[in-house]
Amino acid sequence: MPTPAERDDVVVLESASKVYRMGEVDIPALRDVDLRIPRGEFVAVVGPSGSGKTTMLNMLGGLDTPTHGRIEVDGVDITGYSERQLTLFRREKIGFVFQFFNLIPTLTAEENVQFAIELASRDGEPPDTDPRHLLEKVGLGERIHHFPSQLSGGEQQRVAVARALAKDPVLVLGDEPTGNLDFRTGKLVLGALKEMNREGKTVILVTHNTPLARVADRILHIRDGQIMEQEIVENPVSPDEIVW
Ligand SMILES: Nc1ncnc2c1ncn2[C@@H]1O[C@H](COP(=O)(O)OP(=O)(O)OP(=O)(O)O)[C@@H](O)[C@H]1O
Ligand SMILES: [Mg+2]
Repeated sequence: MPTPAERDDVVVLESASKVYRMGEVDIPALRDVDLRIPRGEFVAVVGPSGSGKTTMLNMLGGLDTPTHGRIEVDGVDITGYSERQLTLFRREKIGFVFQFFNLIPTLTAEENVQFAIELASRDGEPPDTDPRHLLEKVGLGERIHHFPSQLSGGEQQRVAVARALAKDPVLVLGDEPTGNLDFRTGKLVLGALKEMNREGKTVILVTHNTPLARVADRILHIRDGQIMEQEIVENPVSPDEIVW
């Protein structure tokens, strides 16, 4: 077992809390969450609607900030980051895949991925990534010139996965990425996430679907803004084995 100092944790949350204020009412969305995720792990987050899953994911991706506590991503404390610093942090380090694909409708599949590569420029130099290669990886080599409206839901979501990979992110965050897909296309998207993970990416997947969470190495059960249980999956299943 590596000592804590030797562990390469990509994510560290220490007593992270989030309280949303709506008028006079405080809504605690996350309560004192402690979490460490080593590099290369595939983590699933499950829990009822309103339990704080998206809040936690958004915090890890720099889309939201904690009310109390500390967040570290890739060895950097981002707790006190300004909006501008968070924007740069997200561009450089985080690959997001959301439930609604958020592709740019006026750009083809290839251009959507190319755009993400350019956004991720470090020191003015875009990462040396070939959009076609990424689209081939998610099984869309034949669809690179299609616009989002000319792609099925599952194909659009796989473009979104390719786009998340474009910047060679440190962390891939999926918030219900299979949420509005049928069973077969959901599996393809999950397969693409597993493939990224095999190549060494750390993946965090939020899902309502408990059988689907078993593709992960570890399942976090969230309720009322707290991690109630952590389950190590001895033999993560492949997406093909899931009975939906
Ligand atoms: N911007 C916001 N302002 C006020 N309250 C919010 C905001 N975002 C989330 N909440 C509240 O925080 C709690 C946690 O919400 P969150 O979106 O994290 O839940 P979730 O687990 O992702 O649910 P779902 O499975 O439905 O997506 C909920 O009670 C929600 O109403
Ligand atoms: Mg949510």
